[in-house]
Amino acid sequence: MQKPVRIAPSILSADFAALGDEVRAITRAGADYIHVDVMDGHFVPNITIGPDVVKALRSASRKPFDVHLMISPVDPYIEAFVGAGSDIITVHAEAGPHLHRTVQLIRSFGVRAGVSLNPSTPASAVYEVLSDIDLILVMSVNPGFGGQKFIPDVLRKIETLREAIDALGRDIDLEVDGGIDDKTAKLAIAAGADVLVAGSATFKGGKSRYAANIRRLRGAK
Ligand code: DX5
Ligand code: ZN
Repeated sequence: MQKPVRIAPSILSADFAALGDEVRAITRAGADYIHVDVMDGHFVPNITIGPDVVKALRSASRKPFDVHLMISPVDPYIEAFVGAGSDIITVHAEAGPHLHRTVQLIRSFGVRAGVSLNPSTPASAVYEVLSDIDLILVMSVNPGFGGQKFIPDVLRKIETLREAIDALGRDIDLEVDGGIDDKTAKLAIAAGADVLVAGSATFKGGKSRYAANIRRLRGAK
């Protein structure tokens, strides 16, 4: 069942020189999840942050830390991200040949497990682990950078996954990531998404705007 819309600001668009303050600010502004984009310069063409930064930010918010790992290999780093205080750990279906093993590894630590799909990866790539996961993250841009343009073709995949989740009847978040603004938020929600990652759209205009930005995205119908 599609749940009420939740907003997960991506701190990739925050002021990196003041990350703790930024996390406090989006928490006050109504963020539901804190979305952390981890990139390795190998699986994606950019390098961001590691577990030590997640750990340092942990005390800045009580909201769930939604940690999106765009790294390969991923298994050797799961434990460190659990130890840093992640609540949800999402890995890419494309990041390695043993998605099932990776998902079980995440679950073995008692945190929520998510699987992300690149724009060119079909919905079916997640079907065999649907009973084991808590979140599906549909990439609506090619991962690596904030501020890219939403790829409308992924809307069909969101619809397909909404049907699959509802048919199974499990509580699985359907999250969409990349190019979300007031307009594309509406399209993603209509297709069946119930968590929206938003970097640029949350952080635009500075701190005094965060609450209004989040409210607008959430209310997009
Ligand atoms: C892209 C990241 C996204 C990104 C979203 O690789 O996974 O979370 O930061 O940024 P916007 O909302 O600006 O497209
Ligand atoms: Zn992300």
